[in-house]
Amino acid sequence: MAASETLALDVRRLRAEFPVLTRQVGPGVPLIYLDSAATSQKPRAVIQAMSSFYEKHNSNIHRGIHALAEEATEAYEAARARVAQFVHAGDPRSLIFTRNTTEAINLVAHTWARMALGPGDMILLTEMEHHSNLVPWQMLAAEKGLVLEFVPVTDAGLLDLDVYSSLLSRGPRLVAFSHMSNVLGTINPVGQMTAAAHAAGAKVLIDAAQSVPHLPVDVEDLEVDFMAFSGHKMCGPTGVGVLYGRLELLEAMPPFLGGGDMIKRVHLRSFVANDVPHKFEAGTPAIAEAIGLGAAVDFLTSVGMPAVRQAEETLVGYALDRLAEVPGVRVLGPEAEQRGGVASFTFEGIHPHDIAQLLDRQGIAVRAGHHCAMPLHERYGVPATTRASFYLYNTTEEIDSLIAGLYKVKEIFN
Ligand code: ALA
Repeated sequence: MAASETLALDVRRLRAEFPVLTRQVGPGVPLIYLDSAATSQKPRAVIQAMSSFYEKHNSNIHRGIHALAEEATEAYEAARARVAQFVHAGDPRSLIFTRNTTEAINLVAHTWARMALGPGDMILLTEMEHHSNLVPWQMLAAEKGLVLEFVPVTDAGLLDLDVYSSLLSRGPRLVAFSHMSNVLGTINPVGQMTAAAHAAGAKVLIDAAQSVPHLPVDVEDLEVDFMAFSGHKMCGPTGVGVLYGRLELLEAMPPFLGGGDMIKRVHLRSFVANDVPHKFEAGTPAIAEAIGLGAAVDFLTSVGMPAVRQAEETLVGYALDRLAEVPGVRVLGPEAEQRGGVASFTFEGIHPHDIAQLLDRQGIAVRAGHHCAMPLHERYGVPATTRASFYLYNTTEEIDSLIAGLYKVKEIFN
């Protein structure tokens, strides 16, 4: 029995929905796409939703009093409602469209944090953060005299929760951490960590760029204050991301960027800001992209997020077992039950860029480098890793090809 038959998803049927997966990257070399943590591929439904918008409804939103403008506005706001429902946010107004996760985190740094935090206030981060959840806080700390502290990562790739508890006792004002590491794949216990942070009086922001695409996420159940994620990692287009914020926090926050759509009234020397969420959406937004994201969440909902998670857990477990067979390979991070579909590894004596290049010749797309997490790589004493990352369209046969590809790389370097 082929291992992929044990998956809950009908992967062959799903793959047929993704046009790019049928292409070859060289004569007789089919694409094996193992780089979904960088960006996912797009199903036909998303591509069609966006081209249909441009072919039939293209117009600016919240402005024109004509049929197309009304249709475009309705489609954009319907997309907001569908994405809100996808993450179980009760009120669509608590969802702001941004460009991506990075912009969503920067929005909170520039508005809530700049307003609420002052000299000596502490922000608690972790060693496993993506640069997007480090640099905005470093910039604000330099500007406002804030203190940054970090929850360490254990050798096994988990957050050290004992140290987390002791750092909480020092009274951070904000705890910001990733739901799922883009390098280790570690799925952090967000509910437990958030409850502890709230008990200590801190607000909580989670970087959900790698979790919302791959796991069922219920933002109200997790009780986080802010959550950021990107459209392009969840079968949607680039150029649109999301900030979820608790409504009362969003209402109290000052605007982020100034300009059109975020105002109610403008005088020569002052303005009155619009209501949430429009207060945070200055200028013409990524309308077609938001509509594409709406189609992406419809697609993921029809597949079923519990099934996506189950399939990826099986895939990553299979990948960990097979990678363990290859002499010289060392995988960073925890067991399959505690990780999403990501396996980052070193291969003794061979630079990750060489590995990625040689795999590419075999049609296998992986990412090599520090994956925007340089401090985490420093923690493990490696400058770079090779990362294979999986999504609902991947198969165990593709993992077999990765393993065969790694043996070929080894042959070349021996
Ligand atoms: N954050 C993305 C990654 O991990 C780009 O590859």
